[in-house]
Amino acid sequence: MHAAADASTESADRPVGADLRSDESGEPDPTLPEDSERAGQEQAENLSGDDSPSLPISETSTQQSAAPATNRAGLRVGVVGCGYWGSKHVRVLHTLEMVGTVAVIDPNPDRALQLSRNYPALEAYKDLDEAIPHVDAVIIATSPSTHKPLALKAIAAGVHVMVEKPLATTAADAREMIAAAKAAGVVLMVGHTFEYHSAVWQLREMVQNRELGKLYYLETARLNLGLYQRDCNVLFDLAPNDVSIVNYVLGDMPVSVQCWTSRHANPQLEDVAYLRLHYMDPDVTANIHVSWLNPDKVRKVTMVGSEKMVVFDDLATQERMKVHDKGVSRPPRLVDELTEPPMSYRYGDVVLPHLVMNEPLMVEDEHFAECILTGLTPLTSGANGLAVVEVLEAAQMSAREGREVLIEEIAGKPEKGSADQHRETMSRLRGR
Ligand SMILES: NC(=O)c1ccc[n+]([C@@H]2O[C@H](COP(=O)([O-])OP(=O)(O)OC[C@H]3O[C@@H](n4cnc5c(N)ncnc54)[C@H](O)[C@@H]3O)[C@@H](O)[C@H]2O)c1
Repeated sequence: MHAAADASTESADRPVGADLRSDESGEPDPTLPEDSERAGQEQAENLSGDDSPSLPISETSTQQSAAPATNRAGLRVGVVGCGYWGSKHVRVLHTLEMVGTVAVIDPNPDRALQLSRNYPALEAYKDLDEAIPHVDAVIIATSPSTHKPLALKAIAAGVHVMVEKPLATTAADAREMIAAAKAAGVVLMVGHTFEYHSAVWQLREMVQNRELGKLYYLETARLNLGLYQRDCNVLFDLAPNDVSIVNYVLGDMPVSVQCWTSRHANPQLEDVAYLRLHYMDPDVTANIHVSWLNPDKVRKVTMVGSEKMVVFDDLATQERMKVHDKGVSRPPRLVDELTEPPMSYRYGDVVLPHLVMNEPLMVEDEHFAECILTGLTPLTSGANGLAVVEVLEAAQMSAREGREVLIEEIAGKPEKGSADQHRETMSRLRGR
């Protein structure tokens, strides 16, 4: 370990052992195809070779966003915040050819000490100011309220930035970050890890190919007896993943959001939330349930269509995705309404699609490095992060005001004549 962090800095902002919380936490763990940290460490090594999938980004990543970096010795990447999630980035970065040096940036000296046991060449800095002269790029994996100030500081110094989800805690902050990155000519990416998950790619393909028939609805559940955060509620902690998954799978953003939240174990922070997102194209509703207060750990995405239904269970060790050839329809004509069942049921095969065995976090970090070196716009760009934050902000407003909120109200467009347009959109939504 080089340039050791100041040992006099404050202690961890998490209880000891928080780094090891793969099974107990409320936090999703999409680092690996299986949600097992132990299996994952071994698998990550095995999966980093030839079997890695090629990125499904050819269509989305064609614009030039930033001046290509020219560091021939490999990128110097700092991880700001090396707790539970940041330490996974540290591990993954060490496997990437495009990365030359990895730096740990954390005021808690224990973080660097622990990591340096596995990675002796790590550089360590106690804060971003100290690290900036030594890095080309940073990954910000601190608590959400610190994302904006840290990102703006790095951007102002000409450093490329990946920010963990959520990109920011307000849409206005996210916009400021996007504008700053654009002005500085650096990459701004958000860590929507599930958009680099092969199962999620498969779900998107099914929607695009209309394999499920008419898509009726989507449902996601991210529940656990979870780790309460200090600076954000369950909505901003867990729902960014689900909103990002649904936006990606549908290839669209919702037009409106309804949300119901409740506080139980903590009087300040909502620990249970239900969201209903309304999409126009395709015309479909997505229901999202997130909770830090549930006895069972659940990580599921279900899509129900007129022809087929699919369930992606991220915790299943086998059969993680099942496509059910099942359906329900109304019989063409009821002969005797009292004795005939009102619906007819179809039970067909269950298909288990082959999923590419990649590590989503590795695909994500590799893509970040690639964007820096080539000037591509990331698949999960700042705009992608903003789209999710707008939904979260609308959800927060909906829960507070007890009404359906249009994304336009957060996105602030159109400014003139918007009242009529809002009314028209709402009546279209309600009429379906
Ligand atoms: N993409 C995903 O699927 C995923 C999964 C888990 C967490 N996350 C995100 O990662 C981020 C971190 O979550 P976590 O669970 O690892 O938190 P954590 O509390 O375990 O770690 C945060 C670390 O940041 C350090 N820190 C605090 N302020 C700092 C500063 N100013 N400069 C440098 N370091 C600082 C702390 O000392 C701590 O080590 C959150 O935004 C969270 O939403 C993303």
